[in-house]
Formats: sequence, C-alpha cells, structure tokens
Amino acid sequence: MGIQVGIIGLGAVGERLLHKFLEHPETEVAAICDANGERLKTFQEKLPDVQFYTDYKSILADAKIDLVYVAVPPKFHHQIALEVIRAGKPILCEKPLANSYQEAVEMAEAAKKAGVVHAINFPTPYSSVYPILKDKLESGSIGQIKRLELHMYFQEWPREWQHNPWIAKREQGGFVREVSPHFLQVIIDLLGPVQNVYSQLTFPEDPTLCETGIIAHAELQDGTPILINGLSGVGQKEHLAFKIYGDKGVLSLVNWSQLVEETLETPNTIIPTERKDSLLGLIDELVKALKGEPARLVNFDRGIEVQYVLEKLLGHSVE
Ligand SMILES: NC(=O)c1ccc[n+]([C@@H]2O[C@H](COP(=O)([O-])OP(=O)(O)OC[C@H]3O[C@@H](n4cnc5c(N)ncnc54)[C@H](O)[C@@H]3O)[C@@H](O)[C@H]2O)c1
Repeated sequence: MGIQVGIIGLGAVGERLLHKFLEHPETEVAAICDANGERLKTFQEKLPDVQFYTDYKSILADAKIDLVYVAVPPKFHHQIALEVIRAGKPILCEKPLANSYQEAVEMAEAAKKAGVVHAINFPTPYSSVYPILKDKLESGSIGQIKRLELHMYFQEWPREWQHNPWIAKREQGGFVREVSPHFLQVIIDLLGPVQNVYSQLTFPEDPTLCETGIIAHAELQDGTPILINGLSGVGQKEHLAFKIYGDKGVLSLVNWSQLVEETLETPNTIIPTERKDSLLGLIDELVKALKGEPARLVNFDRGIEVQYVLEKLLGHSVE
C-alpha cells in the first residue's frame, strides 16, 4: 500500500496536487476535505475509493493517513497546520507558510517539537532548470554577483483564471504574497539570507483590495543589492523574471521555467532542459522523507525566513 494522503482544501491548487498524488506510484489519496460540499460533489463520483469530508478534523482523526496536504487560503494555514501537527501527522503546507511572521515561527516550532516531517509546496527547486542554475552559480560562471532583480508584471491581478474570494484582497491576497515567496525561497536557497528590506507599495483606494505595485530594495548578507519590482494592470502579457547580474554574465529565470544566460559573447541563450514535472519531484522527496531517507524538502524553518522578507515587503511588523 502506498503512502496514504489526506488533502485539506480542494481549490485550484489542491486539485493540481490531487492529480499528482493520484499519478505518483508511491502515494494514494485516502481522504479529501473541503469546507465547500458542492465542490466535493464534482470529485466524489470519479474517486469512489476516497473518503470525502467537509470538516478537516475527520482527516486528523483518521489513523491511516500518513501525510496531510494543507491547501486552504493563507489565513487558515496556521490554525489547520497546528492541528495537523498536534495530531502527529507529517505535513505538506501551501506557501506562503503563514499569514504573519509570528504564525510562521509558531508553526515551525510546533512541527520540530512534534518531530513530524514538515514541508512547503515550493515547486521551483524540483524543476529541471534549478540544478543547472545552482551549478552555474556555484561554478562562478557569471563571475562576481553584482545585483539581483525580481520583476513581477501582470496584465491584471487577479489573473483571468483566478476566481477565488481572497486573492484580490489585502487581508491574504495580492501578487506580492502569492508570487514573490517562490523567488524569495530561491534567493535564500541559492544565495543566503535576505536583510535590510525597504518596500514601497501602491494600493487602490478601496482599503480592502490588495497592492497594485511594489518597488522594494533588500540585500544579501554581503550587501549585494536586491531590487524587487512588481506592477499589475500593465499593457503586456504576464512577465516574471528573476535576474542575477554577474560581472561575467547574467542568468535569468523567466516565467518560472525558462533559464536564460547572457554574456558579452553569447547574448540571450535559452539553456535547453529536459521536461520534468516539478510537483512529482516534490512528491518523490516527500516519499523519501516519510521513509526516513534523506530528502530535499523546503521545510518550515525556510518558511520562516521567507515569511520574514515577505512581511517586510508588505510593510508588516515582524516582531
Ligand atoms: N505552491 C504554489 O505554486 C501555489 C500556487 C497558487 C496558490 N498557492 C497557495 O495554495 C493555497 C490555496 O490556493 P488556491 O488558489 O487553491 O485557493 P482556492 O480558494 O481556490 O482554494 C482553497 C480551498 O480551501 C477550501 N477551504 C477554505 N477553508 C477551509 C477549511 N477550513 N476547511 C476545509 N477547506 C477549506 C475552500 O473551500 C477552497 O476550495 C493558498 O495558500 C495559495 O497561496 C500555491
């Protein structure tokens, strides 16, 4: 029998991971919970062997569940994750880990105290470009790093396909909260902690709505500057780029999956890579961790580091 997975929150992202857990040869989906019973109905017929619940406590009480995946909106991560951890269950939590710095700290402390496997769904480290990017940085192929830049440009936010009630709201939505954590995790993973964050956000008049722009400055430990730039409502297709400027070349991670290298001799070379499913890669690592083997997971400690920078970008206190 494969690893028995319980899913809490079957929205857009929960559904994405549901298919990956069903596809992976070593995991089985045993139970799914969503507070919206109507949403569950559309899956019940197709998945007759899965238990469906509208109360997540039923998943926590189910002794056969080996791993709980929490994919509810950000402001519910903390409460539900703490209960999963208290039930002694390994946990995969959606990003951003929490909805405040303090919540993230509490979640990481609880997970470590309980001794459960704890991971966050940051797929980029399992993508085919990631090891190449890492190798290039480690081998010094772009020379001394002078500056990092993150560009997040959206034709509209929420994007046309995002229909949930929270993603446009200041309380737990916005592209800074939704998109930047992926890149903050990449920066911290590849280049170390981020400090000295100064951020300027632009908001619409309606105080309930999320930011429409960000211009921020931060630094790596050695003072290397990081510029963070984001805007919604611009007349171009969505463009996401994380750029690392070195004195011998520039590496860019563009629209999540494309790695581009530029030097004086070779302008704009797209690095060819094999196609690889990063979510299946994440599940491979979770399976290893649950078997007690060494695994490459982004854990809740990293979640705290990312949350620290995220909250600073959002202008929130991190005390
Ligand atoms: N890792 C990634 O690449 C990635 C991408 C997008 C979003 N996310 C994150 O995934 C999470 C979910 O995002 P989404 O777009 O799927 O949101 P969504 O609103 O589409 O889905 C959330 C689901 O959770 C359910 N829910 C809410 N409260 C619940 C509760 N107490 N018990 C059970 N179910 C409950 C809702 O009914 C809804 O179906 C968010 O934290 C978001 O930031 C991650």
